[in-house]
Amino acid sequence: MVDNFTEKISRRSFLGAAAATAAGVMLVKPGAARGAQASSTLRMGILGCGGRGTAVGTGFVNNTNTRVVALADLFADQLEAGCKHFNELNQSKGFEAIDSSQLFRGPKAYQQIAASKELDFILITTPPYFHPLHLETVVGAGKHVYCEKPVAVDVPGAKRVMHIGETAQGKLSLEVGFQIRKAPPHVELVRRLQAGAIGKIGSGLGYYYCGHIDRPEWPNASPEEKRLRNWVWDRKLSGDIIVEQNIHIIDMINWTLNGHPVSAVGSGGRKQRTDAGDCSDNFNVVFVYPEHVQVSFGSTQFGNNPAFDAATRFFGPNGSSEAHYDHRMSIAGAEPWDAGLGPTQGSGGQFSISGTFKGSLDQAEPEKQKAFVESITSGQFHDQAAQGAESALSAMLGRTAAYTGKLVTWDELLKSKEVFDPKIDISKFA
Ligand SMILES: NC(=O)c1ccc[n+]([C@@H]2O[C@H](COP(=O)([O-])OP(=O)(O)OC[C@H]3O[C@@H](n4cnc5c(N)ncnc54)[C@H](O)[C@@H]3O)[C@@H](O)[C@H]2O)c1
Repeated sequence: MVDNFTEKISRRSFLGAAAATAAGVMLVKPGAARGAQASSTLRMGILGCGGRGTAVGTGFVNNTNTRVVALADLFADQLEAGCKHFNELNQSKGFEAIDSSQLFRGPKAYQQIAASKELDFILITTPPYFHPLHLETVVGAGKHVYCEKPVAVDVPGAKRVMHIGETAQGKLSLEVGFQIRKAPPHVELVRRLQAGAIGKIGSGLGYYYCGHIDRPEWPNASPEEKRLRNWVWDRKLSGDIIVEQNIHIIDMINWTLNGHPVSAVGSGGRKQRTDAGDCSDNFNVVFVYPEHVQVSFGSTQFGNNPAFDAATRFFGPNGSSEAHYDHRMSIAGAEPWDAGLGPTQGSGGQFSISGTFKGSLDQAEPEKQKAFVESITSGQFHDQAAQGAESALSAMLGRTAAYTGKLVTWDELLKSKEVFDPKIDISKFA
């Protein structure tokens, strides 16, 4: 049954259909975003001062001509920790400390930082559930934006992001946090595969096997605060592990095959990580891409797995490829190639949580950050909203197939009106 399923919707009509149905967003005023960037240091604001905001914000300062001038977070302790870190960094670089008027806390912090006149771009590193709202607000305020993946946790959210991308097109740079697409060994591997190094790709394999993600327990927090603090364990706030974390591998498959799956079957569940939250801890999905290219995908997120591994493999008539997060990056067959990388430094796969990798991804973050900054300073703006949404939807396809136990087609998925609503009133955190 899976074999015989044919693609019914082209990439272009998928993008067009979503645009027609998406909710409206404010239009960006032409030229409003350019600010003072042309001659000098870009001014960055960070919305969400957690692990990723700190890591990527620091990366921008170290790898590009950028300084941190504003921070926003729902929680005071997170904002304070971010302020301490970035003021120390600013001092070490000879930049001024962040002005207290540019520190925004609480449920409206996202609107306040978006409205700041002191910024050229905003890094969105809040939990995935908030991304469409936060992205819409930042783009609506005329700021360039780097938004972490996944861009949304449900289909209506992904369509909304595609529409936001259309309003930003040509006026602002909109980057989505798939840094692997800028990792030189991965770029080279995909180039070779697309040039036919193994012949026409017939099938593939992708997986993301990691240990459980530890977070502090917050024993004195209310149930709602606990969920927000540990959003990564919460289906509605994160989108579940396939949308939140495994999406990197699904994005690599889309990138290599230059498209999205047309259907999926799968299963998954909560097998071992049952002590916290409600996320699944394993998925097994078969994605079918155009021309019946089947890609099996597996993931786990439980136990202490020191042998963390996330990878793709592709198979063709003339050979096969292997691409890991660390050191096996090669093509075997008629046109052999090896990236010549060494093993990952560090252990236990903890790098998968911070997003700071060694091995094949060593240069991913610096290259990604430099490319985004260059897109702003050159005026050759990036618009990665549709690509970000396409990968989020692909992960949602696998999630829906696993949740329902049924074959789900791309067309069916796009009709979904299901909203992932955590039902948390964040105004309580004022
Ligand atoms: N590209 C990568 O390799 C990579 C790696 C890790 C995380 N991420 C992504 O980065 C994002 C953040 O992940 P993280 O690990 O930094 O999480 P985190 O929990 O460490 O940080 C999230 C921050 O957002 C704040 N926050 C929560 N709700 C908010 C709201 N409504 N308004 C303002 N602030 C709010 C939290 O207080 C916290 O400081 C996620 O989308 C995640 O998927 C990407």
